[in-house]
Parts: sequence; C-alpha cells; structure tokens
Amino acid sequence: MKQPQSRVKAVEWRGDACHLLDQTQIPGREAYLECRHYREVVSAIRCLAVRGAPAIGVAGAFAVVLAAQAACDQKDPQGFFEEALTEIREARPTAVNLSWAVERMRGVAQSTGQDPKALLDEARALHEQDIQFNLDIARYGLELFDRKISVGTYCNTGDLATGGIGTAFGLIHGAYLNDRIKHVYTCETRPVLQGLRLTAWELYKNEIPFTAICDNMAASLMAAGRIEAIFLGADRIAANGDAANKIGTYALAVAAKYHGIPFYVVAPSSTFDLSLASGTEIPIEQRDAKEILAVLGENTPPEPWPVYNPAFDVTPHALITGIVCERGILRAPYVESIRSALG
Ligand code: MRU
Repeated sequence: MKQPQSRVKAVEWRGDACHLLDQTQIPGREAYLECRHYREVVSAIRCLAVRGAPAIGVAGAFAVVLAAQAACDQKDPQGFFEEALTEIREARPTAVNLSWAVERMRGVAQSTGQDPKALLDEARALHEQDIQFNLDIARYGLELFDRKISVGTYCNTGDLATGGIGTAFGLIHGAYLNDRIKHVYTCETRPVLQGLRLTAWELYKNEIPFTAICDNMAASLMAAGRIEAIFLGADRIAANGDAANKIGTYALAVAAKYHGIPFYVVAPSSTFDLSLASGTEIPIEQRDAKEILAVLGENTPPEPWPVYNPAFDVTPHALITGIVCERGILRAPYVESIRSALG
C-alpha cells in the first residue's frame, strides 16, 4: 500500500513552545503562532486558529505542559494548575478529544507531582499515538473500495485537523494514492468554510483532483451519480454510534441515505465517548453570530439580526454505513461493535 505523507503540522512542540499553524489565515498565508503560555493555546483553540477534534486534543495536551511550567512560579501551584486545566478543557465543548487529552495529562500530573518534563513526554506520546491512529485508519479504509470512485467530504479532517495525515482525509488520500479515487468533492462548509479554505488547500497541496462546491449542491451531485460515497470526521461519537460533526453533516447523511450512497464516519478512538448513551447528550457549541454575518462583508444590517449558529449537529447512527477507526471498520448494531472494539 502506498502511504500518504503529512505535508504540514497543525501542532508541534519545538524548543520550549507549542507552535500552531494559524488556520484562520489559510489558504492565503502560512503563519505560525508560538505559544509559551497555556492561555495563548486556549485562545487559539477558541478562535479556531487550531481546530479539528484530534488537533485540539494534541494542542490541549501541550497547553497542560505550559500550565505546569507556569504553575511552578505561583504561590499555590496546585490550585493554579487545576484552574488552568478547567480553562483548557472548556475551551471548546463538543469535541471530546480535548477533555480526553486533558484527563490523560491530569493522570500523569497526579502521579509525577505536576512534573513538566514528564508531562511533555506524555503530550509527545499522545501526539505520536494520533499520528499512528491516522495511518491505521487509512489502511483499514482501503478495504472499503472495490473500484475507483468519486467521493464527497465535509469540513476538514486532514493534517490541519489532526496530529498526522488526517482521519477521513487521510483515508481519501491513501485511497487516491492506491488508485481508488477519481475525484473529490469538498463542500465549502458554511459558515467558517473549513471545506473551501482548508480541505481544498490540502487537496491542492497533495495534487488530488478536486472540485469545491457549495453545501447546497451536494444532493444534486449524488442524484447525478457524481458523488458515490461520503467520508467525513466526527467530534464526538456516543455509545450507540450517533456522531456529532460539523453543522450540515446531518443534512448530507439524509441526502446520502435517500440516494443509497454509503456514508462513512472516520475517527480515532479518542473521539468516542462511551459515557453517553446517545447523541442527544452531546453538548453542542454555539458560536458568535458574526461568523454567519461575515458573508455580508461591509454590507452590514441596520441592526444586529438574530442568528442561530451551532457549530455541530448530530447524525443518528441509522444513517451511518460504517465508522472507521484505528481498530477497524465498525458496523451496526453499533452498541455491540463499538463496545467490543473500544469498551
Ligand atoms: O469547528 P471545527 O473546525 O473544529 O470542526 C471540525 C470538524 O467538525 C471535523 O470534521 C472534526 O473535528 C473531525 S477532524 C478529524
């Protein structure tokens, strides 16, 4: 199997700082933020300079290292550290990878007396593990293709969204390199345009043939036989297989079901939350109205208009053909397949 390579690093620990590729500037500019304080990582997560469930998990782990370093100079190092962990954990609520990473780091802090060196080793190990999970996912994903097809994807799941080659994007990239993909349709992904700005940029950089489309064009391309399968990521998957992902995923899943098109969710084990019985329990982040109204540019309304801006929606498991994770391809009934793979 030809294996995809990662071209950019969304998150990296270099020297004594956490370096983040500022994704708010892609595709126009490749600029890095150098974070030396945990609060800089927290604000980068909040403003989407670093985003994507696995990537914010890795960034959160490095933020914990910075918090432990900052705690050393405080009167109450433990109290400071605990408050910092809460701030990091709560930077964004939906992607469980963030709280998962913080809790893993907390375990190491407890057993080492908040030793920054031990915490840095753990954050690096977590990052390495994510890189390996991506590669395993791409390998399993190849089993899903019995011929060369055109696929659709949504939001961004590539090396910008993870520690390595990506989840759904890594799978698509691997399938392309192994002659299983003809063409990729990337939905623009309103309102923040992760599909148009980030996924199109990654497809372009990797020389994968693609077309960017508006979100409302996907169903007609399915009807025309031009999108033959959908691969996308997740931010949190409940024990019954319901999956939260970027707002608009649910609509795509409904359209795929109507057209009889396979709909695959691709995510590492760190995205599963087995403490939640179903997707109705997943907290959905609400974001600023400005993200929706930004499309108006200078042509602003006479007064702020009411806007609804949930960042994610939940796709019921009945619409999901399979969930690809680093342990294999999980299928319905999901309660059993998820429990036996991850429980
Ligand atoms: O708001 P974002 O850009 O962080 O949303 C990201 C997504 O919804 C991705 O599809 C998901 O995190 C999977 S990333 C491998």
